[in-house]
Amino acid sequence: MALDRKTAPNDLNAFWMPFTANRQFKKAPRMFVGAKDMHYTTSDGRQVLDGTAGLWCCNAGHCRPLITEAIQRQAAELDYAPAFQMGHPIAFELANRIIDIAPKGIEHVFYTNSGSESVETALKIAIAYHRARGEGARTRLIGRERGYHGVNFGGISVGGIVNNRKMFGTLLAGVDHLPHTHLPDLNAFTKGQPEHGANLADDLERIVALHGAETIAAVIVEPMAGSTGVLMPPKGYLEKLRAITKKHGILLIFDEVITGFGRLGSAFAAQHFDVLPDMMTTAKGLTNGVIPMGAVLTTPEVHDAFMNGPEHMIELFHGYTYSGNPIACAAGIATLDTYREEGLFERAHELEGYWQEAIHSLRGLPHVIDIRNMGLIGAVELQPIPGEPTKRAFQAFLDAYEAGILIRTTGDIIAMSPPLIISKAEIDTLIGKLGDVLKNLK
Ligand SMILES: Cc1ncc(COP(=O)(O)O)c(C=O)c1O
Repeated sequence: MALDRKTAPNDLNAFWMPFTANRQFKKAPRMFVGAKDMHYTTSDGRQVLDGTAGLWCCNAGHCRPLITEAIQRQAAELDYAPAFQMGHPIAFELANRIIDIAPKGIEHVFYTNSGSESVETALKIAIAYHRARGEGARTRLIGRERGYHGVNFGGISVGGIVNNRKMFGTLLAGVDHLPHTHLPDLNAFTKGQPEHGANLADDLERIVALHGAETIAAVIVEPMAGSTGVLMPPKGYLEKLRAITKKHGILLIFDEVITGFGRLGSAFAAQHFDVLPDMMTTAKGLTNGVIPMGAVLTTPEVHDAFMNGPEHMIELFHGYTYSGNPIACAAGIATLDTYREEGLFERAHELEGYWQEAIHSLRGLPHVIDIRNMGLIGAVELQPIPGEPTKRAFQAFLDAYEAGILIRTTGDIIAMSPPLIISKAEIDTLIGKLGDVLKNLK
């Protein structure tokens, strides 16, 4: 008998699910079988309002026609072309389209397939860049506590989320970390950028003094730290980081895997904060999350440092089988078309005030110890249950799912980042239902 795959997976054992409490899930599975615009459909036929744009990636909402059609068309026309020593036109077209919306001063695109790969790529380019310029001793990489830069070895080395690091040995050598910027005593319930904490960037001077600038290749930070629980950069912080890195000849990498493609109301956070890094890592919203794709964006200074030596020689010994995959490129172009035609970055900017007031209306509800927001992103931090960290927020996540909204939790923080097509009425529904969940939470 043919199984109805939509509703009845036969056995849940084989699939070892990522970043999931597998045993809990398999006892009480939560399955999505369809999606359209702002909603998922569950296997038991319910509609769930997407408060997280999938995993911070479906910025244009779900099953959008331009993207679906572009993928179908491309799959029938040129399914795959070798990524090395061969090209195909839409890979170049997409790169130009990305540069059109990138900050002035960013001019080159290196394709990857995920945020994690973008991070590894950017870190490797940073080290190789200095070597190409005759500064081969610059190999150290500086990340930040609580940073999330994906799950590969470079990314978890510069990252600062302890659970993502502690099971995996000694990681990369020659890595140091800036302090995180979460100052709840000073900044709790801030709307937008917090006032306090710019001075935390000065810690980079201490790290430089400790190791010597001539040993440091790059500093990588998320301009707004998402996965750790939505931490906004304090006012003046990113500007300081830029000034100090520049002063010491250190590259600055913004990990824009979440902030890229409209989340803060500009194409990129670099534009939102008016701070130009040397490289930006992207993924997620590049293809609306529909097809795996990432990209590292660089300045001409970084790119041009490699463009020497004999012309028949490969300049950068790095790349992936699927770099610039035609179907991913088609999805990317259609995604950028959708953002542009529907003015979605501007829409995120316009909705910011409404979103801010809505999410801050949860202040005063049980267990809420902080609320933070910017663009169409926000977090509600809960007081952990003593001795049982993460349990309270996870329960909120389960209750929210039952109530018909998808939220995300990390530690005891609830993070939300809805598709940029969300309406005011849907913001009211999302926040209203979350409020009900919090009121009834133990
Ligand atoms: C800032 C940042 N960098 C990198 C990544 C990793 O991306 P991926 O899961 O596509 O490898 C993420 C994912 O959430 C992210 O938020």
